[in-house]
Amino acid sequence: MRTLREFIISLPKAELHLHIEGTLEPEMMFDLAMRNGVSLPYASVDEVRAAYDFADLQSFLDLYYAGAAVLVTEEDFFDLTWAYLERAKADGVVHVEIFFDPQTHTERGIEFGTVLNGIARALKLGELYLGITHRLIMCFLRHLDEESALATLEQARPYLQFIDGVGLDSGERGNPPAKFEKAFHAAHEMGLRAVAHAGEEGPAGNVTDALTLLKVERIDHGVNAIDDLELVAHLATHRIPLTMCPLSNQRLQVTPDLSAHPLKKLMDAGVLVTVNSDDPAYFGGYVADNYVAIAEALDLTEADIAALAENSLLASWR
Ligand code: HPA
Ligand code: ZN
Repeated sequence: MRTLREFIISLPKAELHLHIEGTLEPEMMFDLAMRNGVSLPYASVDEVRAAYDFADLQSFLDLYYAGAAVLVTEEDFFDLTWAYLERAKADGVVHVEIFFDPQTHTERGIEFGTVLNGIARALKLGELYLGITHRLIMCFLRHLDEESALATLEQARPYLQFIDGVGLDSGERGNPPAKFEKAFHAAHEMGLRAVAHAGEEGPAGNVTDALTLLKVERIDHGVNAIDDLELVAHLATHRIPLTMCPLSNQRLQVTPDLSAHPLKKLMDAGVLVTVNSDDPAYFGGYVADNYVAIAEALDLTEADIAALAENSLLASWR
């Protein structure tokens, strides 16, 4: 008999919420640390995995930014992206929209072009050899100031042919959408599309503000949108997609009990919900693992699961 996982893998799907830095598996972290002469505060791969016990978003971000220090050369960014694409292929992913965080790297002296060229070359080869199409989304780190976001946008200018949109990630508490109104306005002026993380640890009001102030087309996470039924109706009516990430929400204590996750309620309300992996190396699974986890926790039917996969293609920028 066909297993649930086999059924999920058989469905063509897009992954729309994936931080490329969050695909850095501990094994590659060690290989790259060795290659680049970077010292790590861990003695072994097992010790790294044991540290992945997160109390909240910030405790994860602290480790995630520290891990990214092993990424130095264009080859490193290429290898990271290529390894992700091979895993996505194995999960039945036909299209990816990848986030990258340039400020995580430029802040430690890595050139914007080094990051961009490595990722873009792997995406191009992924299309040729794996048949996976792609879009690339540059995220602003919301714990940094808007000046830094605007400077990053300027650094991106020579590479706009490779960048489809901007996003907003990192710690949501204390860093509301309003902080980045100018940066998103400037991005729109440059012809870029926009998404933003909102309603992950922050309130439903952040989802509303991301839509009205930043004029984003999709919301990343949006878990807390469920607290505002008028907002839920607005998302449904206007077909505004939510890119949800069940294992991330579980591991970061947003919804520690997955059976309490609002994904099915939002689907039933007519919202275009999608399933994604966020930072799979840190949260215990790639996209198929996320589908399996939420399907089991919420008793989803095969029709629900097929609708989620179809939603991912509808919500994509293909
Ligand atoms: N939320 C905010 N910032 C992030 C995340 C997330 O889930 N993953 C990587 N950066
Ligand atoms: Zn995310």
